[in-house]
Amino acid sequence: MSENPVIYKPFEWERLRIASQFNAQLMDHLRPYVKPGITTDEINQIVHDYTVSHGNTPATLGYMGYPKSCCISINEVVCHGIPDDTVLKEGDIVNVDITSIVNGWYGDQSETFLMGQVSDEARKLVQVTFDSLFLAINSLQPGSSVLQIGQVISDYARDDNFGVVRQYQGHGIGREFHTDPGIPHYPVSSSERDLLLPGMCFTIEPMLNAGSWKTVEDQSDGWTVRTKDNKLSAQFEHTILMTEDGPEILTLTKEGPQAGHKF
Ligand code: MF3
Ligand code: CO
Ligand code: CO
Repeated sequence: MSENPVIYKPFEWERLRIASQFNAQLMDHLRPYVKPGITTDEINQIVHDYTVSHGNTPATLGYMGYPKSCCISINEVVCHGIPDDTVLKEGDIVNVDITSIVNGWYGDQSETFLMGQVSDEARKLVQVTFDSLFLAINSLQPGSSVLQIGQVISDYARDDNFGVVRQYQGHGIGREFHTDPGIPHYPVSSSERDLLLPGMCFTIEPMLNAGSWKTVEDQSDGWTVRTKDNKLSAQFEHTILMTEDGPEILTLTKEGPQAGHKF
């Protein structure tokens, strides 16, 4: 983790765009397969094969010992779910988080998918999480403080009494997977001095819980994070470049849910 936020130069912005656009294309490739009946290992294999066959590298494979090419987090799993032989079933909400390395540059994004008909609560949670991400992005201007992201997201989640996860945050990204600044999704006063200047690239990746914000890490695999109260959790993530004209979402997909989408 770099100690200081990196300001990328305009010639590097194109590299960032290319990496994130590959990642988005991978998400579009994946989307039709994320349906009831598939195993999370099969989804992982699709991510892996598509990435490698395009000459790129799955960033999570071997990252701090993480064993797979993506994270898949079902229902009460908040993040870092490890693909295995679990079969997706009708009614699940399923987050797939993918990160690619393209010529040394990182792009990172996630989406939560609804498996057929889900409960009203699940649908609402997914909707509010998705909308909170876009509200936060659209609130930003060059020079905005990182604190504002946490304020916008937690103010919005509060209307529905959804908990905002604190233990895991967004992050700077670019030549490395995770750099400063940390991007908390709830208000942290020290974030007020972290300003989002043109040339900074970062993720926003709110995790909202149907109940408490509290989470627990699985002791046996060391990765899987669950809600403490076992209620549902949803997440969306984009990689964003701050420009002089405002935030540019680098990981927008062609086929996925666009701002304003109704689940
Ligand atoms: N993609 C996750 C993020 O958004 C990080 C996953 S790291 C892993 O930052 F090791 F769990 F894969
Ligand atoms: Co991320
Ligand atoms: Co991610």
